[in-house]
Amino acid sequence: MMKFAPASLFLFFIMMLSTLVSALPVNMQVGTKQNVTWDTSDAPTQITNPIGRIILSKGGLLDLDNPLADGFDILLGEFEVTVPDVEPADDYAIVLFGDSGNASPQFTIEA
Ligand SMILES: *[C@@H]1O[C@H](CO)[C@@H](O)[C@H](O)[C@H]1NC(C)=O
Repeated sequence: MMKFAPASLFLFFIMMLSTLVSALPVNMQVGTKQNVTWDTSDAPTQITNPIGRIILSKGGLLDLDNPLADGFDILLGEFEVTVPDVEPADDYAIVLFGDSGNASPQFTIEA
């Protein structure tokens, strides 16, 4: 059963980070800085991938080629990103990857 341990940890971490990026504003302007925050208070003590990555998603599609941030410590609980110069729309979200992924509520990016 040992080989299933990473998957269990994955699910556990999704649940533990369920309050992720709740502090983001609903409207963001291109070029502004925003603090992405997530709750690490209940993070598991054994984290297989401690390196975080923040990805922008639009309409549920992840822009994996252009991470907003990469290579930071997942236990920081906060990371500042710059809103990229993307097409204005109201179906953007931010996804945090570390041990697992978790998405924010959707928000609008304005030109
Ligand atoms: C993000 O948080 C840091 C540290 O708390 C603060 O210095 C910075 O001004 C914040 N940035 C924004 C855009 O709020």
